[in-house]
Amino acid sequence: MKKIAVIPGDGIGIDVTGEALKVLNVFQEHGGVELDLVHFDFGAERYLKTGVSLPPEMITEFRENFDAIFIGALGDPRIPDMAHARDILLGLRFNLDLYVNYRPVKLLDEKLCPLKDKTCKEVNFVVFRENTEGTYVGIGGNFKTGTPDEVAVQESLNTRKGVERIIRYAFEYAQKNGHHKVTMSDKSNAMRFEGDLWQRAFQEVGEEYPEIEKQHLFVDALVMQMVKRPEQFEVIVTCNMFGDIVTDLGAQLQGGLGMAGSGNINPEGTSMFEPVHGSAPKYGGKNIANPFGAILTVQLMLEYLGYPSQAKMVEEAVIKAIRENQTTRDLGGGLGTKEAGDYICQEIKKRLS
Ligand code: NAD
Ligand code: IPM
Ligand code: MN
Repeated sequence: MKKIAVIPGDGIGIDVTGEALKVLNVFQEHGGVELDLVHFDFGAERYLKTGVSLPPEMITEFRENFDAIFIGALGDPRIPDMAHARDILLGLRFNLDLYVNYRPVKLLDEKLCPLKDKTCKEVNFVVFRENTEGTYVGIGGNFKTGTPDEVAVQESLNTRKGVERIIRYAFEYAQKNGHHKVTMSDKSNAMRFEGDLWQRAFQEVGEEYPEIEKQHLFVDALVMQMVKRPEQFEVIVTCNMFGDIVTDLGAQLQGGLGMAGSGNINPEGTSMFEPVHGSAPKYGGKNIANPFGAILTVQLMLEYLGYPSQAKMVEEAVIKAIRENQTTRDLGGGLGTKEAGDYICQEIKKRLS
């Protein structure tokens, strides 16, 4: 029995997590999946009431007693500095050492792609985003705030260990999955010091994989190429900040932010799964949000937990829903969040019976 922590979070995170759980329940009841789901109400509401975002003991609890975490999204306009989201989301990424942010970009139906004449075969790659370093670590500060002389410093931290392990993970993934090419993207023409480290690590680790082609693109050129010729990409590896940005573009290539799932992986420990999108507060609680990103995140989690055939059924059900226009408004359909989730559950039940 695998133990999973469920943190719906804020806004549409709550709505889409409800649908992800419905899908998991179908597999629990009819599909041979055995999970012990434990719910946690960490998020804006609890933080505003109690001042506690993520109780510190939860890190050890998750690390020692859970196989995975499913998280909806965090972010609430009542907490403009995002303090609780940083503690919970970044806190879990950093403290559980979830150094691999795995974000597949896979178009499931041509009609969803904003690019002209691109097929599903042509928009199919994965992004490995470094997830524990870079500008996200919070090194820096403000000085003379509110005066004409004010200063803001935000450092980017890159360690040899951190850079090397995400690059190696990308090459290993490529090798295991029959890919022929890994693309590393940085901004080494302007950010020389960290760029130098990334370049050398890519070169040196890459030598261990002579059969795999190495490509380097500056990140400005990468985003241009993602639009111009996405078919050239198989595996992309990049830093935390660039990975964040390029995967929102990647989400749109798949039909929008409501269509992208992700995994935050610690290859030796508890991992965390979340849709790429945020809490979209203005849509929260309105039965509008697209639940497919969260449901495709369930697919990634089931794969990770060792249920590959069930994971495949999730993707098939989503493909069918798109083909039949059984979707939310962002995809051109007329369904609410719950109804779109119900459709997926029905499709999975058909496949299980
Ligand atoms: P967002 O992803 O929440 O939403 C941006 C826009 O994308 C929405 O207005 C909507 O038009 C569309 N969208 C996103 N998800 C959708 C879905 N499931 N269905 C339909 N449309 C969808 O990004 P934002 O507006 O920049 O951020 C809102 C809050 O979420 C902020 O507080 C931000 O920091 C936070 N955030 C959290 C996470 C996370 O928890 N993983 C990720 C991104 C942003
Ligand atoms: C994401 C989000 C987060 C990030 C925010 C909410 C800190 O945008 O998961 O993509 O930048 O990593
Ligand atoms: Mn993001």
